[in-house]
Amino acid sequence: MLEVKVFVLESVLVVSLCCFTIPAAAEKTTNPSEVNALQAIKSKLIDPMNHLDAWNNGDPCRTNWNGVLCYDTVGADGYKHVQELHLLNMNLSGYLAPEIGQLSNITVLDFMWNNIGGIIPKEVGNISTLQLLLLNGNKLSGSLPDEIGHLPQLKRLQVDQNQLSGPLPRSFANLNGTEHLHMNNNSFSGQIPPELSKLSNILHWVLDNNNLSGYLPSEFSNMPNLRILQLDNNHFDGAQIPASYGNMSKLFKLSLRNCSLQGPIPDLSRMEKLRYLDLSWNHLNGSIPSNKLPNNITTIDLSNNHLSGSIPASFSDLPKLQNLSLANNLLNGYISSTMWQNKSFGPTARLTLDFQNNSLSNILGDRNPPANVIIRLQGNPFCQNPSQENIKYFCGHEVGGSNASSNPTNQSSVCLIQECPYEYVPESPFKCFCAAPLQLDYRLKSPSFSYFPPYEDQFEMYLAESLSMDPYQIFVNFPIWEPGPRLRMYLKIFPAYNSHELNKSEVLRVRRKFMTWDFPTDNFFGPYDLLNFTLLGPYSSVDIESQRSGMSNGALAGIVLGSVACVVSISGLFAILIIIRRQATNYQHLSRKRATSSLIKIAGVKDFTLKELALATDKFSDSSQVGQGGYGKVYKGVLPDKTIVAIKRAQEGSLQGQKEFLTEIEILSRLHHRNLVSLLGYCDEEGEQMLIYEFMPNGTLRDWLSAKSEGCLSFVARLHIALGSAKGILYLHTEADPPIIHRDVKASNILLDLKLNAKVADFGLSRLAPVPNDEGAIPNHISTVVRGTPGYLDPEYFLTQTLTAKSDVYSLGVVFLQLVTGMQAITHGKNIVREVNIAYQSGIVFSIIDNQMGPYPSECIEKFLALALRCCKDETDERPSMSDVVRELESIISMSSESDMSLPDSTTSYSKNLMPSSSSACVSNDVSDDVSGSDLVSGVMPSLTPR
Ligand SMILES: *[C@@H]1O[C@H](CO)[C@@H](O)[C@H](O)[C@H]1NC(C)=O
Ligand SMILES: *[C@@H]1O[C@H](CO)[C@@H](O)[C@H](O)[C@H]1NC(C)=O
Ligand SMILES: *[C@@H]1O[C@H](CO)[C@@H](O)[C@H](O)[C@H]1NC(C)=O
Ligand SMILES: *[C@@H]1O[C@H](CO)[C@@H](O)[C@H](O)[C@H]1NC(C)=O
Ligand SMILES: *[C@@H]1O[C@H](CO)[C@@H](O)[C@H](O)[C@H]1NC(C)=O
Repeated sequence: MLEVKVFVLESVLVVSLCCFTIPAAAEKTTNPSEVNALQAIKSKLIDPMNHLDAWNNGDPCRTNWNGVLCYDTVGADGYKHVQELHLLNMNLSGYLAPEIGQLSNITVLDFMWNNIGGIIPKEVGNISTLQLLLLNGNKLSGSLPDEIGHLPQLKRLQVDQNQLSGPLPRSFANLNGTEHLHMNNNSFSGQIPPELSKLSNILHWVLDNNNLSGYLPSEFSNMPNLRILQLDNNHFDGAQIPASYGNMSKLFKLSLRNCSLQGPIPDLSRMEKLRYLDLSWNHLNGSIPSNKLPNNITTIDLSNNHLSGSIPASFSDLPKLQNLSLANNLLNGYISSTMWQNKSFGPTARLTLDFQNNSLSNILGDRNPPANVIIRLQGNPFCQNPSQENIKYFCGHEVGGSNASSNPTNQSSVCLIQECPYEYVPESPFKCFCAAPLQLDYRLKSPSFSYFPPYEDQFEMYLAESLSMDPYQIFVNFPIWEPGPRLRMYLKIFPAYNSHELNKSEVLRVRRKFMTWDFPTDNFFGPYDLLNFTLLGPYSSVDIESQRSGMSNGALAGIVLGSVACVVSISGLFAILIIIRRQATNYQHLSRKRATSSLIKIAGVKDFTLKELALATDKFSDSSQVGQGGYGKVYKGVLPDKTIVAIKRAQEGSLQGQKEFLTEIEILSRLHHRNLVSLLGYCDEEGEQMLIYEFMPNGTLRDWLSAKSEGCLSFVARLHIALGSAKGILYLHTEADPPIIHRDVKASNILLDLKLNAKVADFGLSRLAPVPNDEGAIPNHISTVVRGTPGYLDPEYFLTQTLTAKSDVYSLGVVFLQLVTGMQAITHGKNIVREVNIAYQSGIVFSIIDNQMGPYPSECIEKFLALALRCCKDETDERPSMSDVVRELESIISMSSESDMSLPDSTTSYSKNLMPSSSSACVSNDVSDDVSGSDLVSGVMPSLTPR
């Protein structure tokens, strides 16, 4: 012990030497006026999460756990200069200090997605080095300072989603190097200065949702590089679309929705690159020009105008067309089936043709559109004509073709059985490759398509190429359309095969690329918004201290040497501390063994000895193992009285302090509900921790739904399983004390008893995660990842790490979708929620219903599916509460029993093994018995619960 102490003392000396002396000699200090400027900026901002405290030391370019604060560079004056300042999504409020102008060498100013108010200080215009000014997503007001127009290096100005007003400054005409002006969702007003057509390098100009007026300058057609012009929701009262716009041969997107425009539509035939045209909700009149349309166009929206005449033949044979809307005009004549005939659709393509509310008189040609073509015709005169029998078919709500291409694969993937502390890389060409992704909240701000699936691969390739990665490393999760239309998604960036995590330099490289828009411009996907790039899970401790661009080699070497020495001695110190702690734990361990069980007795659960359990499981033999979960292995055991039990044995890493373990058991022992698997006992002996549960002879729901299953479940059985699961979880949410969020609801955690009653398992184990013990020491394994199973995980929980009861609602919704479709939560990178949503929106849901299920009343299954999809909404608030879920399932069940589906009235017990393998008569559960379970919410049934 004495030796150890001396060594510790030595290390402390080395530490102080290396950490304070050596780097101080090698590091430059930051230019004092910039240190002052940062302090002034900080003093005007309200920083609830104290991210800016990192500026308090002498070296302001440091970061705490997650805020990228700044990058710096050493200037000719021998001082360091702040080069980039990134304060993305840090919940800052307050306002911007004028001293910001003193950051005289800065290239990137990034305050995106905070709540900063006040005005944009005109001093920003002093920063002649500024390239990216990123102020979007705040509460800035006032007008844009003219001074910004004199920033010679400005490449990108993002001030969208603020409360800015006033005119667009004429001085902006000087921004001849600027490529991106994003100013949407403000209150800019007045005439767009025609001088701005001098912006010779501008690529993407996004100005929608403002209060602009006057006319559309015809000079804009002279802008040589303009690719995207989006001006929706402004008021150019009575102005026309200049005919010269038809000459913009490089334009990809022209969006002038709801701009109070009138007059004719210009000739589009020379706009060869045009992919997206939206002129809807104006007062355009005259007929639609019949000239040839750009071949690659995806979207033409001319709806809600006063267009007359007939539909020109040029709308036919457009190979990339996804969306043509001519609704709410005065069009007459015929619809030609050449718009959908002879089209070769890829499996992911979709075409929506909307002709509602015109004066069209007939369909010419083929009236059987292929699958994936949706035609809307209601509100045309021929829909009232009874003689037009097969046209009625198009006059309903929404008509899609039949033979849908969606084929749910029922293969159970090996990946889902094994354990992965992170996630399986969904589109990996390598089997079962488990890794932690970087996650971004990302939004395409002005895409040139209406329907993403056909372009998703191309998009992933584009990102992969830009990041010098393989496409399988990029995964698009939960793409949803937001107003604009803008396409929001969660991007996941995985490490390459063979590693579980991206290394630190990769994290920093990827992050910086996204944060500085260091991507080749893609005009089809358009510009992107970076809404959040919080480092989660294993990445939450990466900081940018070592990332110093432009630093002199000497300084860098000094720091590296210094920090190596430092790391070496610090790890020495840690090694010693760990040894000391180990000894202490071992000692505790010994004493614990003797102290156990005599102290605490928990009512209702038995304190088993290790010997009893070893006997019950043939010494935990492999043949008695029946499963493996995150907590450890599960064994089937037979007690001396012939009771069959399931024994969960904690593995390394799931073990915890005795006090916490017993506290948890105490909590679990109080939970009794017919839809929860009962805890019978526990064992806490000789370093083992085990939980003993009642054994469920019919296994897991996952087994029943898998392709290998020998039996099948009827629709009614599935509804009752859904209801039982929901009730079990509702009990955890509302009646457990303290309330328990399950966190890992999935088909393999829903077990079935002899009568196919659903019982939820594994609840409360999440609470058994390792926690620091009384001395503040942390057990040997700390789970830093969000808990849950890929495919079932609430996206919002994943992103914000804020756990709510609605996370269980989401996961249960996924189980419901599995009950309806028989699909896995994730197969081959396909997420069930997304797949079902696509089918649902395309009106082809009946094609994805599990054909193992036997007959079902269609209105019941529709209701069940709609409920499941609501549970799986991305937005927490849009999901029903668990009690709503229970209520709604009860009403669906009573509806289904009123319909002509007769239920087998039997009390037989079922076992998978007894089911004839190809039986078409599926098993139902014992319904009469289940009624008494509806005690929790509905209050309709008398409360007779066997709790
Ligand atoms: C952000 O700050 C506001 C108050 O300024 C607070 O109410 C809110 O909870 C904070 N959000 C986060 C995520 O910290
Ligand atoms: C912008 O204009 C200035 C002067 O008018 C000129 O010196 C500069 O080269 C131009 N830059 C670009 C990118 O065209
Ligand atoms: C922009 O404004 C429009 C109209 O007010 C609104 O519908 C849309 O949600 C806003 N977009 C964003 C990203 O705030
Ligand atoms: C829009 O601009 C007009 C003047 O062009 C002004 O009278 C009106 O108040 C503005 N509306 C908003 C919401 O800013
Ligand atoms: C249309 O798209 C194809 C492939 O996507 C491309 O090769 C072609 O150049 C495009 N045509 C025009 C006119 O942009």
